Amino acid sequence: MPGAEQAVIEAFRRGEAVDGPAIAEYEQRFGEYHGTQSATATSYGRMAFYYILRALDLEPGSEIIFPALTFWVIPEIARRAGLKPVFVDVDPSTFNIDPEKIEERVTTRTRAIVPTHLYGQPCDMNAILPIAEKHNLVVIEDCAQAAGARYRGRLVGTFGAASIFSFQMLKGINTYGGGMAVTNDALIGARVRELAAREPPQSRGELLKRFGTGLVARALVSPKGFTFWGFPMQAIASLFGHYDLSRFVWEKIRSLQPFPKSYHRRYSNAQAILGLRALANLDKFNTRSRAHALTLTRGLADSRSVLTPKVIDGAEHVYYQYCVYISDPERAGRRAIRRGVDFETTHVDVCSTMPLFKEFAVHCPGAEETAQALQLPVYSRLRDSDVELTSQIDQLVLRINNRVRSAEYLFPAPAEIRLFRRLDRGVSGRRSDLDRRRRDVWCRFAGLATDHSGRSDWRFSRGSDLFLCRS
Ligand SMILES: Cc1ncc(COP(=O)(O)O)c(C=O)c1O
Repeated sequence: MPGAEQAVIEAFRRGEAVDGPAIAEYEQRFGEYHGTQSATATSYGRMAFYYILRALDLEPGSEIIFPALTFWVIPEIARRAGLKPVFVDVDPSTFNIDPEKIEERVTTRTRAIVPTHLYGQPCDMNAILPIAEKHNLVVIEDCAQAAGARYRGRLVGTFGAASIFSFQMLKGINTYGGGMAVTNDALIGARVRELAAREPPQSRGELLKRFGTGLVARALVSPKGFTFWGFPMQAIASLFGHYDLSRFVWEKIRSLQPFPKSYHRRYSNAQAILGLRALANLDKFNTRSRAHALTLTRGLADSRSVLTPKVIDGAEHVYYQYCVYISDPERAGRRAIRRGVDFETTHVDVCSTMPLFKEFAVHCPGAEETAQALQLPVYSRLRDSDVELTSQIDQLVLRINNRVRSAEYLFPAPAEIRLFRRLDRGVSGRRSDLDRRRRDVWCRFAGLATDHSGRSDWRFSRGSDLFLCRS
């Protein structure tokens, strides 16, 4: 952001990098933006979550519901707080928790639920809130990836008893780390504030390291940085199979017992200075990401092999990630990266299958399906020309599929059409009609087919490949 680095340097010069008036101002503006009484800045979004859990003072061993697809750290934090994470499957077309699957996982020990607005799309809160109310569950929204997104005109983070936000480098608001706990509940708010205030401040050295490494990392992942190092390196990697090098910079999956030292720190004034600027520009940046997403969606509208993201009714998606399903994700990804189109594979984790959570393992086929999705960049800093190039991914994929298409394109057997129509109306098909794998694939896309206007006539090819065709 223009002038941001200068403002941070000046804060260091004034001796106000660690502590200063910007922290309180940022908390106040953040609360005002969301129309909530209390907002407390924390060392990480995850620590905002930890303090909220501590403030709720739930009985040890209480169950807390998470989507099976989420960032592993958050259920791990719940375990650290003495709770038992319970995973509920997600709808693979929205990537968010499937409201229809929640009640089957509620027990007499369930106390809370965490709707995670994943990839920038709000959860279907109209379906989730009545379930929470019926079972007396505390709702804690995870808005780490969705700052500024709205559901039926209302900002995410304002539906539950409390919410968390993240200011990690790639998020809508970047303050090189940090988070915020937001609530309208005076007791939760006061307790969270007390817990956050108990942490020691960061030292100047820690702060310098934070900004130094953050700026270098940001330069490396900028569009220019990617042109000079990202694409060449990934193109070489793609020759050997794995093109997605981002996994090498992801946080190591591990037990968080004990918490690393950096978790027990206070949010700094220099970070709050950046937060204030980013918050003032949040809506503008989200509008730009949405415009990029629209360009892609339009560009890919007639695609036979790329399925663009589904946006639920009433949701204002902010596209932290633009997720697509592609008929041959492996090959399409590799070829795209060689042409300068930045693809990323799953950005979060299928927690229901992770060894870290083996004691809470549960079969969540929807979440497992999402591992097939690829993410395209639409962040606000992207140039329009980059988005145009990305929208041509369709040509690439079509070329890949050419051979398959000419052989097996269209004309599903009548039995399959009948089954699809039944699925389209929300009725599950007879198992005997198709083998299990293909039935799952049909189910996965049935919702999408009905929800994209004019696309109710989408059909599957007869091949085992997953691509779709317009009839
Ligand atoms: C969905 C989700 N929840 C929570 C977090 C935690 O945020 P932080 O890294 O600030 O602790 C993240 C961070 O990436 C996230 O993606």
